Amino acid sequence: MSLAPSEPSPFVAAQCERLRAAGALGPCLDLACGRGRHARLAAHAGLFVVALDRDAPALGAVAELARAEALAIAPLRADAESPLGLPLAPGRFGAVVVTRFLFRPLAPVIAALLAPGGILVYETFTRRQRELGSGPKSPAFLLEPGELPALFPQLEVCAYEESLRSGGAGDAWLAGLVARRPI
Ligand SMILES: C[S@@+](CC[C@H](N)C(=O)[O-])C[C@H]1O[C@@H](n2cnc3c(N)ncnc32)[C@H](O)[C@@H]1O
Repeated sequence: MSLAPSEPSPFVAAQCERLRAAGALGPCLDLACGRGRHARLAAHAGLFVVALDRDAPALGAVAELARAEALAIAPLRADAESPLGLPLAPGRFGAVVVTRFLFRPLAPVIAALLAPGGILVYETFTRRQRELGSGPKSPAFLLEPGELPALFPQLEVCAYEESLRSGGAGDAWLAGLVARRPI
């Protein structure tokens, strides 16, 4: 089995300049990072990255990737749904990237992780994904139309879209948000 991460989401990759600039404010958190495709993108953009996931093999792949490409990525094993919260200090991150993961109660915690001026790049499935017969089926993991920006009322929206995307991982109905914590 290949340990290589898949290609980054085009929506996240398009935020590379914003991520690079956000690196001046603090590290990047790739939350629910999987095999680290966006941790890799952010690290190549020059950011120090904390790559958090609860899955040990996925984090092993991230650690191997960081070694192989000499990237500043710190894998962190944690449960983002723990009632104890995240083992991360608020207000410290220049950027938080979340893709294909949704746990609605975490939204205010994510917003609070950002330093003033820091950016959130969030992309995940909408309920239209069910039309495609693949991916998550539970409403707990599927956004309602217009819901993603509404989960982050503390942040200023820089960009938002909902669309059907085609790519290596197959077609997906995704919402993508870029939002900034006010200074
Ligand atoms: C569909 S994958 C997406 C991975 C990555 N963000 C990407 O887009 O390639 C979802 C990831 O969320 C992680 N995950 C699910 N629930 C989690 C939790 N409660 N805490 C931390 N990670 C979690 C899984 O282990 C998995 O790696």
